[in-house]
Amino acid sequence: MTEKENVLTREFEIKGKDFSRAGNISSKIKEILQETGISNSIIRRAAIATYEAELNVVMYANKGILYFTLDPDSIRLKIDDEGRGIKDISLAMKEGYSTATEEYREMGFGAGMGLPNIKKNADKFKISSILGKGTTLEIFFFLNNSGAS
Ligand SMILES: Nc1ncnc2c1ncn2[C@@H]1O[C@H](COP(=O)(O)OP(=O)(O)OP(=O)(O)O)[C@@H](O)[C@H]1O
Ligand SMILES: [Mg+2]
Repeated sequence: MTEKENVLTREFEIKGKDFSRAGNISSKIKEILQETGISNSIIRRAAIATYEAELNVVMYANKGILYFTLDPDSIRLKIDDEGRGIKDISLAMKEGYSTATEEYREMGFGAGMGLPNIKKNADKFKISSILGKGTTLEIFFFLNNSGAS
């Protein structure tokens, strides 16, 4: 952790296939945000996006790092993974599209709603991927003028 000039940064490692720890980062980020004055609605949206991004690394990549940055104006999440990558991003972004295995579906995943939900909850969302190398997501929440309630 580093803290300087009102910027808080954290890094979290995500291990592929490690379902026992899936969701931990989302909980941790929620805790950090709850210690600030950030509105519950933004905290909830950030926790949902973190959870979905984290789960995708667990299910579809070998490993990844989630970089969390909080400054007075924004929350930024960057998730960088090493893995198979995504061949067709616009297809992956479609509601209902999923390549989840039968095993994952039995665990309750694979609705094909993770990426669309990240996009819906974020104020700004970027995704890029290199097939066979990995995927990067950047997710932003703006703390001013973002409809806090
Ligand atoms: N980090 C990633 N690396 C490789 N492929 C990914 C990654 N994230 C998503 N995908 C691909 O994009 C598809 C859609 O992802 P999305 O999160 O929307 O749905 P899902 O994970 O299949 O189901 P759900 O999130 O609803 O449980 C996945 O099925 C997978 O094929
Ligand atoms: Mg998903």
